[in-house]
Amino acid sequence: MKIILLGAPGSGKGTMAQKLTSELKIPQISTGDIFRKNLKEETPLGLQIKDILNSGGLVPDEITIEIVKNRLAESDCANGYILDGFPRSIAQAKALDTFQNIDCAVNLDVDNATIVSRLSGRRFCPECSGTFHVSTLSDPSVCPVCGGKLIVRKDDSEETVLERLRVYETTTLPLIEYYKARGKLLTVNGTGGVEVVYRRILDVLHK
Ligand code: AP5
Ligand code: MG
Repeated sequence: MKIILLGAPGSGKGTMAQKLTSELKIPQISTGDIFRKNLKEETPLGLQIKDILNSGGLVPDEITIEIVKNRLAESDCANGYILDGFPRSIAQAKALDTFQNIDCAVNLDVDNATIVSRLSGRRFCPECSGTFHVSTLSDPSVCPVCGGKLIVRKDDSEETVLERLRVYETTTLPLIEYYKARGKLLTVNGTGGVEVVYRRILDVLHK
């Protein structure tokens, strides 16, 4: 199955993609994780996009599209994948249509107050890309999966979250209509606990 996860920053795309990837045995392709890895390793790409990521803007379409196109051509994507954070603009969606035929776009619908509360408590593991919320961690500094040191993502500062929400509303939100018009949109209520939302996603995927 070739699935896109749509949704605002903090709507739960990464959390749900990690659960889907282990259940459906298809890879999670997170453009945010790819960019953060390049940033951490200070690759030429990482240095080029550092300021964009830290300010909450979008990496230029041509760079992002090329990375995703190459990644989806790898053998582990042959039976499907979960796209987490791509596409994020109409130009990216149109480009994707030229090299892949996706099955559905699942939109996680979450209100802004929930988003702000989720992002302000998020902890991220740079070692395994695990994403957690402080409210569920016995030790908020240690990754419960790999033992790595958890960090607060730089783009989770209040100012940057507001910018990411603004960019989402102007550039990414139109994708909902884009996939609706193509009969590929599945909308899921993204509020509620992790397991509740995950069940809802499995239900719409099985229909
Ligand atoms: P990216 O990493 O994709 O960030 P994002 O879209 O802003 O999304 P987030 O990762 O913040 O949120 P999420 O929906 O994954 O939520 P999560 O599961 O973590 O992109 C980062 C940057 O990279 C962008 O700003 C941009 O610069 C660049 N970029 C990436 N893709 C790009 C593209 N295609 N084009 C151009 N630039 C691109 O959950 C959030 C928190 O809530 C966690 O703490 C989690 O534990 C908790 N939580 C999740 N679900 C629940 C639940 N049901 N109940 C309670 N808590 C929950
Ligand atoms: Mg994410």
